[in-house]
Amino acid sequence: MPSATLPTSSLFTIVPLAPELRKDTLIGAEVVLNKRGPIVPSTLLPDDISVLRQALYDNSVLVIRKQQGIDPHALEQLAAIWDENLINVHSAGKEQVLDPRNILSRNNGARLPRAQNVQIIGNGEFKGYEGIDYLNLRHIDSADFHAEPLTKEALEDGETRFYRWHQDAPLYESLPGKVTLIHGLVVPKLPDQKIRFDNGEVMEVQAGSTAFISGARAFQLLTPEEQEFALNTTVQYAPRAYEWIRDCKATSDGLGIAKVGDEKPNDELPPWTWDKVQAFPMAWKNPGRPEQPHLQILGCCVHSLRTKDPVTGKVTVIDDLAETRRICYNLQKKAVKPQHIYAHRWEDGDLVIFHNYGAWHSITGQLGSTQRLMWQVSMRSAKEPEPARA
Ligand SMILES: [Fe+2]
Repeated sequence: MPSATLPTSSLFTIVPLAPELRKDTLIGAEVVLNKRGPIVPSTLLPDDISVLRQALYDNSVLVIRKQQGIDPHALEQLAAIWDENLINVHSAGKEQVLDPRNILSRNNGARLPRAQNVQIIGNGEFKGYEGIDYLNLRHIDSADFHAEPLTKEALEDGETRFYRWHQDAPLYESLPGKVTLIHGLVVPKLPDQKIRFDNGEVMEVQAGSTAFISGARAFQLLTPEEQEFALNTTVQYAPRAYEWIRDCKATSDGLGIAKVGDEKPNDELPPWTWDKVQAFPMAWKNPGRPEQPHLQILGCCVHSLRTKDPVTGKVTVIDDLAETRRICYNLQKKAVKPQHIYAHRWEDGDLVIFHNYGAWHSITGQLGSTQRLMWQVSMRSAKEPEPARA
């Protein structure tokens, strides 16, 4: 129950998730509202906003239950709490990605007619939803995602996988949103599924659970030498990264691409110029916890690394793709363990807000034709991620 020692405002209390859910993740708190009903951003006072802002920086993921009926525009308004440089456009663009060359178009998502910045994602068929004649939403499937997909036996045994560990980031032209908000409207009611780790450990998750890893915890798990490397390195992403990897298959843990050679050649990508291709620090600064670097890498989309010797200032470029991927994979792999992963168990009406500049997330779940429907908002920022070390 909320206690006087927890962060509170006039409207809510921030309650860390139970220890068996938080484990060793640094992730997760519930925003327990004093009054029932959906949150209305215009009623938040400066004190409410500052408590909410710090709570996300401290916990990476905030959960607000029973948000049925929330105004879709509230999601954009809430996003602005964490971004004074927010641009009023979804980071994926003004309209849904439909170009079949872009792998992000494969979810058959749509925008909400009454709120263009709200992306509708999920699984299964919906007729007449919010004035849209027909939606055939598509959840990822291991069969066409992983280089070594789940076998028939594993599927029958209820296994699923992590798909792509990532931050929501277009990596071209548009800067990623500081936060992502997901509102679960239709949650699949399926038996729990399980994820098997390399060492034989098994983690039970809700079917369709969204999994999170703290970039801060991932950084803490590195050796001092690796931390130093991360603090001095910039990750260059590939031009038109989501078109570039569209024929590539992922490693079984969702951290990267299984082999070099299936990337699209530059002349088969949509037009691009280097000035619009993004490069970010490997370790990002958390504005609410500036002493705590976050290891933030989109492993599937990396192209090359630039690392600076802090003493001489000499910059070394690592542009061999296999080597670049190997380095990133080994740094990230340490965190992909059950004790470092928070898997959100969705309830109808949940609003989950996560710190996109401080955490990684991954879809999970084998959903078949089961219906699932969510609203997702990630607003373009005008400001790049700041390096943990200036
Ligand atoms: Fe995402």
